[in-house]
Amino acid sequence: MIGIIGAMELETASIVKELKNAKRQEISGILFTQGAWCGVQVVVAVCGVGKVFAALCTEAMILHYRPEFIVNTGVAGALDPGLEILDVVIGRDVVQHDMDTSPLGDPPGLISGINRVALPADGKVCARFEKAAAECGVRAVAGRIASGDQFIASAEKRGSIRSLFGASCCEMEGAAIGQVCHVNQVPFAILRTISDHASGEAGIDYPEFVARAAAQSVRILKKGLEEQ
Ligand code: ADE
Repeated sequence: MIGIIGAMELETASIVKELKNAKRQEISGILFTQGAWCGVQVVVAVCGVGKVFAALCTEAMILHYRPEFIVNTGVAGALDPGLEILDVVIGRDVVQHDMDTSPLGDPPGLISGINRVALPADGKVCARFEKAAAECGVRAVAGRIASGDQFIASAEKRGSIRSLFGASCCEMEGAAIGQVCHVNQVPFAILRTISDHASGEAGIDYPEFVARAAAQSVRILKKGLEEQ
């Protein structure tokens, strides 16, 4: 069983539609649908936007479905100036850009308790999606993904996350999914297609490109799972 999490329905609806022998279950207000997709047993959930919903969903998925690994599919704002809308970022690791105990002398982003800033995604699963992106003819980079409970839409904020963490893109769930997977020792991967540049234009670009970007992540996810 492979776990698939999207923050919004538009990021997973096409997968749920294609599931064979779909079985639905609601846990803690989150709908989980399991079934066969491209010959693979999967469980799909829409977690909701932000780190708390993402963490809650990931923990529930792990405890109820025991997935072999979890993939987070969706969209992101580009921080790397070399990335264009509809390019793909496959998370090499994840950080929480809004986790900050630096006034106490800690490095920005340090997760107290775990004592780490960045948590690595699973190398083998990521390599599979990198290959899948190449086969789909999509430009993909393996990079750092920065998550926080903020939609980033200014040059100033985007610049500060980029310079503090060296992240390729920003979104709002991946690092929470990564943290829950890390403490449960479940491998994870984050697959995000760029929908905007997290700049002053993000409020215009995001609504224009979100559906296409979300669909592209699903296309690469499908290709990657088909080849397992
Ligand atoms: N997801 C897509 N674009 C984003 C942005 N600019 N900030 C946070 N999450 C996003």
